[in-house]
Amino acid sequence: MVEELVWVNGRLVGAADATVSVFDHGLTVGDGVFETLKAVDRQPFASRRHLERLRRSADGLGMRLPYTEHELRVAMAQVLASHDTGLARVRLTVTGGAAPLGSERGEANATVVVAAGPLQAATPSTAVTVVPWPRNERGAMVGIKTTSYAENVLALAHAKARGCTEAIFATTTGLLCEGTGSNVFVGVGGRLLTPPLSSGCLAGVTRELVLEATDAIEEDIPMEVLLGADEVFLTSTGRDVQPVHQVDDRSLPTQGPITETAIRAFLQLAATTPDP
Ligand SMILES: Cc1ncc(COP(=O)(O)O)c(C=O)c1O
Repeated sequence: MVEELVWVNGRLVGAADATVSVFDHGLTVGDGVFETLKAVDRQPFASRRHLERLRRSADGLGMRLPYTEHELRVAMAQVLASHDTGLARVRLTVTGGAAPLGSERGEANATVVVAAGPLQAATPSTAVTVVPWPRNERGAMVGIKTTSYAENVLALAHAKARGCTEAIFATTTGLLCEGTGSNVFVGVGGRLLTPPLSSGCLAGVTRELVLEATDAIEEDIPMEVLLGADEVFLTSTGRDVQPVHQVDDRSLPTQGPITETAIRAFLQLAATTPDP
């Protein structure tokens, strides 16, 4: 077994030596953006879309990404080469770099870390709960995959305490938004719906692929529609398309026909497109 390596600002180091400054703005105020990719046998999935979103997120925070897409691809390949084959997650993190101890960013270059770790295959279906805190669909962080995820940490702990693997957020106006790390699709009256980006949800890569591979429609979804839906599924890098068999106290079919079609379409796209 080779030593697992981490790429830190252009240098490959052993995991134990992979460090950043305690003054890094990512650590002190959560000033950073990230991507998580799935890798199968060391091949990152949908890498173009993830790298594009990373750049959009960095732009959204006014942060200069000091490496090219090619350099980041090489970094991912080098890190993955030091990991086992099979299912893995690759994480790219870009933070504000060393800065004074306040909200203002310093003059330093961004810190960029590429690391990998194991990824558990998702369970065949899951339970979710709606959390009592809204997502602010008009907030400054909308659309940015920021490392400021403490809200998600709290919401996920709330869900886990109720036997669920995902917490679902409504918007401030009572529309369906997203999960802590997933997008939500609902099947109602034979139609497949997902909230539009104006709900404040992240432009999930898996969401995008499902929208392209199916007849799904982006539409505002009042929370009552989620609570009465015929079918519900989640999409994310780690879950792919994962049926939901329970929303709060309500049970749903483990895998209804609309979900079945979406799973098939997603798997077909993933199997036939080299870097979808
Ligand atoms: C807040 C949020 N929404 C949705 C998603 C799903 O996005 P993707 O399909 O790109 O993994 C994520 C991914 O982690 C996320 O953090």
